[in-house]
Amino acid sequence: MDPFRIIPVAAMLALGACVLAGRQEPLPTGAQDFAEYCSACHGATGKGDGPLAPTLARRPADLTGLSARHGGTFPTTQVMAKIWGYTGGKGGSAVMPNFGPLLDSETVPYDGGDGIMTPTPLRLVQIAEHLKTLQPGT
Ligand code: HEC
Repeated sequence: MDPFRIIPVAAMLALGACVLAGRQEPLPTGAQDFAEYCSACHGATGKGDGPLAPTLARRPADLTGLSARHGGTFPTTQVMAKIWGYTGGKGGSAVMPNFGPLLDSETVPYDGGDGIMTPTPLRLVQIAEHLKTLQPGT
């Protein structure tokens, strides 16, 4: 058989084995990450009524109204940028904390609505997908 046909297959199998070996624990789901990183402020159902909310200088946004506030379309890229943007650069002035573990996860190609596949941390994708499920009527 033509060796140039065999080598790519072998390389893909080796790559697959590495990916499987590197994945020891199952990733938390978007709902689990939301409960851990977001619900203290935004509330378990995202309404902005978490236990920390009364202590904050700014009221946590009602995340169940994201679609309604954006003409009925879930603003995926803005949401991701919001979460992402708080991981650095804004210093102590940011209300939302650092979400490093969410952003360090492996990346997957994801189209946030602009038609462009962008390598995006999987847990960030999952949390955005979870927030979509909190929108009324979805
Ligand atoms: C320490 C409290 C706190 C935590 C934890 C927190 N947030 Fe927020 N969030 C806020 C506050 C306060 C606002 C409104 C002020 C602002 O936009 O910065 C906000 C705003 C937002 C917005 C913008 C909403 C809009 O209408 O523009 C999004 C999206 C959001 N948060 C998502 C999240 C997600 C997802 C998490 C978890 C990964 C999270 N937040 C964790 C306090 C928090």
